Amino acid sequence: MQADISLSKRLTSSIGKKIVVALTGVFLSLFLIIHLMGNLQLLKNDGGEAFNHYAEFMGHNPLIQFVSKINFAFILGHAFWGIFLAFKNRAARPTLYAVNKPGANSRWASRNMALLGTIIFVFIAVHLSKFWFVFHYGDIPFAEYHDGVTGEFSRIKDYATVVDIGFEQLWIVIFYVASMFALAFHLSHGVQSAFQTLGLNNKEFAPTLRTIGTVFAYGICALFAIIPVLMYLNITL
Ligand code: HEM
Repeated sequence: MQADISLSKRLTSSIGKKIVVALTGVFLSLFLIIHLMGNLQLLKNDGGEAFNHYAEFMGHNPLIQFVSKINFAFILGHAFWGIFLAFKNRAARPTLYAVNKPGANSRWASRNMALLGTIIFVFIAVHLSKFWFVFHYGDIPFAEYHDGVTGEFSRIKDYATVVDIGFEQLWIVIFYVASMFALAFHLSHGVQSAFQTLGLNNKEFAPTLRTIGTVFAYGICALFAIIPVLMYLNITL
């Protein structure tokens, strides 16, 4: 009981909240890597087969479904404590910079993490209503596939077509691409900030970690952004 009280106190202290934001951020970044790898299958020229098998597996595996609930809880926790910390920092440092130096993206991002996070939160809400909700509660047609090697037939829900139809609208594609800019800025500062909070920012590793953070942020967001664009243009790889 005593241990529980001190753990909850530690988690709700200022540094505790920073650690919670950093750790949930690391988890969400790992989610993004896996999510991206799954979604890139939408670009295969296979009539959606690989993506449909992947989505079917993800939607029905009990372990994945459990991790998905943790994922949702972490999104809410990360957003809630992140916004709380941003407001606290702002109150402690009332003099805001008067000028935004051009090119100083990371400094701009660091001062606007709550704004960027809110844009991403709105993106996730729209995104879930378009895809997650339909995947779980929508009426999805079935697709049939024939395995040329084993000769087996499979009949699974055609999730890929749901995404295809979603990305037929230009405004949705523009909304996704614009949101990926916000995500890239948010991640570019967030990854470095998490390294710092978790004590991984000593002088020796700092430049390498900064590079890893930047490459990760812009790389992952560019790949996410390319999916709706190529699907809109009907280009497969
Ligand atoms: C632009 C490329 C993207 C595509 C094509 C895409 C596609 C999808 C699809 C089809 C689902 C439903 C999957 C299911 O419930 O089984 C989904 C779920 C989800 N997506 Fe995305 N997504 C993209 C980018 C993103 C980004 C950038 C984020 C976060 C910032 C994100 C966050 C989520 C979350 C949190 C879920 C719910 C996952 C769960 O069930 O645990 N997605 N996405």
